[in-house]
Amino acid sequence: MNQSKALLSVDHLVIATQQDPRVLINDVTFEVHEGEAVGVVGESGSGKTLSALSILGLLPRGVAVTEGSIEYNGVDLAKISAQEMRKIRGSEISMVYQDPMTALNPVMKIGDQLLEVIESHEKLDGSSAERVWEALREVGIPDVGRAMESYPHEFSGGMRQRVMIAMALILSPKLLIADEPTTALDVTIQQQILALVAEERRKRKMSMLWITHDLGVVANLVDRLIVMYAGRIVEAGSVKEIFTNPQHPYTHGLLASLPVTKDKSRKRLTSIVGVPQKPWLVGQSCSFAPRCFKATSECANQIPQLVGTLEKSVACFHPMGVES
Ligand SMILES: Nc1ncnc2c1ncn2[C@@H]1O[C@H](COP(=O)(O)OP(=O)(O)O)[C@@H](O)[C@H]1O
Ligand SMILES: [Mg+2]
Repeated sequence: MNQSKALLSVDHLVIATQQDPRVLINDVTFEVHEGEAVGVVGESGSGKTLSALSILGLLPRGVAVTEGSIEYNGVDLAKISAQEMRKIRGSEISMVYQDPMTALNPVMKIGDQLLEVIESHEKLDGSSAERVWEALREVGIPDVGRAMESYPHEFSGGMRQRVMIAMALILSPKLLIADEPTTALDVTIQQQILALVAEERRKRKMSMLWITHDLGVVANLVDRLIVMYAGRIVEAGSVKEIFTNPQHPYTHGLLASLPVTKDKSRKRLTSIVGVPQKPWLVGQSCSFAPRCFKATSECANQIPQLVGTLEKSVACFHPMGVES
């Protein structure tokens, strides 16, 4: 079906706290192919951010990859040195965060910050300032000359997000990872940023891993979707498959909770009752079982494995639409 090559290949990844080991991410396996955009969705706490940070070797102190591999172009990123990782970060893989202030230095002019990104990988030369100018123009910053002389606080949230995208793109990475970069923005600005990213991705033939808790936001942006729940992938597949034929009861619930109209006054129509279990407390069972209307004793006593193809895979003993 998909003949393209995997650029990023995450295999049976386990991430845990180092003291009193608590498993936070369990047995996560997925691929991002060349030029492909993959969305990662799931409630808060499902493990999206840690999965993303592990790729760039940016896990918080006290949290580490304990099993599995993260292959990028054939190199296991979980095993390389900090120095080798610095070479990859920014130029091969870069990241945009939910809060631009995580990436932006509040006391440094925007232009200098972009120059610094170039300088972290290459010697600056006569064309560097021009590259910065062009990078800011490309993301739709008005009056670029003035913007280069400004500080982050002089920009609106949406403009800061554009600056961060310019920073992430200036070294032409092959893979862009975005962790809920539009969550804090109002809907109109959010749509503008998504359109901008979609356009950049198309122009650059870049691969993308786009994280969000909002399935509605990514539907038009990505080719495939990964659904996470309590530290595991419960379903993955093409956007079409996920939207038209969701098999995991959790995915089904997520889709049912999408507002059917654009009218913001309409509240969520359905919601899944209860809260997710903590991954380290789940044990040998399906983590969704306590909230699942299809759960049986099998679900309480065994971990369902993710099985299927790139087009569609599910980790469930009683997938929707299949009588069993
Ligand atoms: N620094 C940390 N130390 C211990 N546990 C953490 C740390 N960061 C996140 N976690 C836990 O790991 C799980 C996954 O978190 P995270 O990846 O941030 O989820 P998401 O991005 O989907 O909201 C959660 O249970 C969270 O409480
Ligand atoms: Mg997160």
